Amino acid sequence: MDLKILREKIDGVYRNALKEIESIKDEAELENWKVKYLGRKGEIKRIFSLLPGLAEDLKKEAGSMLNEVKNKLSGTYENARNSSGGGEKEEVNLSFPGKPVFPGYLHPISVVTRQMTGIFEKLGFGIATGPEVETSYYNFEALNIPEGHPARDAWDTFYINEAERILLRPHTSPVQIRTMEKTSPPLRVVSVGKCFRRDAVDATHSPVFHQMEGFMVDRDINFSHLKGVLTYFINQMFGEKVGVKFTPSYFPFTEPSAELSMTCIVCKGKGCSVCKSSGFIEVLGCGMIHPEVFRNVGYDAGKYSGFAFGMGIERMAIIKLGITDIRYFYQNNMRFIEQFI
Ligand code: PHE
Repeated sequence: MDLKILREKIDGVYRNALKEIESIKDEAELENWKVKYLGRKGEIKRIFSLLPGLAEDLKKEAGSMLNEVKNKLSGTYENARNSSGGGEKEEVNLSFPGKPVFPGYLHPISVVTRQMTGIFEKLGFGIATGPEVETSYYNFEALNIPEGHPARDAWDTFYINEAERILLRPHTSPVQIRTMEKTSPPLRVVSVGKCFRRDAVDATHSPVFHQMEGFMVDRDINFSHLKGVLTYFINQMFGEKVGVKFTPSYFPFTEPSAELSMTCIVCKGKGCSVCKSSGFIEVLGCGMIHPEVFRNVGYDAGKYSGFAFGMGIERMAIIKLGITDIRYFYQNNMRFIEQFI
């Protein structure tokens, strides 16, 4: 049995109990109601008796849900009993039950974001944020993408004010610059936030999405540190058995640059439609921070080196949770969201 079915059962019992108590006319009926729901052989006890057969974490979750409902129903019973004495003259019926309150849940994007930042926090990374409305300088020039550079096409975005070159950031890399301007090495930072691109909506694209950026700067940082940190991250996120592969790539702000792919978790590397028969899925871009970027923030590129990486949170969540369409994340459909709490 999964948590969703259990929750529906518990909610169902709670709603029935509230509905039934509304039409109760005297104390005898109220006592019967108590026996039926809160008694030793009552509805709540019956669901409690299902728990021992469940997995440990399910048991805990369902146990606390049940206890909460039990306490609420006991309160409803007490209220009803207390007000039944002077009921005749009373115009306002205080025993009338309130509307059931349902708890809020974290959105799957938040769930996955917390898992991701948690892994980097274990490695000593701090968390930084940056503005979603950026200047062209932080978004492009400082990242070694001068005006007219063909790589700008890859980050085509929405301009708030084209003359003043203010735009919605298409990636989280400007946070690298903002953080390095304010802090001197050594530093280990991740940053998560919304990004915007001129992409048409389809199953794998959304003009608004989330990214995580990470970077580490110190003396003697080299590519093996990058490989070590990112391999650890992927194994923590998807399991020790998942293999990673680094293939050469290009980003103006890193040199050398690479693309990290992991073994496809659907077919375990055999080849399927998800990985387009390659056995691997691309998950992030990374590389050693370009000396020009260091010069732009006033770091001594002869003394310090570092690596950076960037990845889509939706993409991580899609792989992790087995979701088939990015649009589900933004439709506020509780039947979708509730599956991932
Ligand atoms: N900013 C890049 C992108 O959005 C990702 C990246 C970040 C690549 C840091 C390398 C280093 O595609």
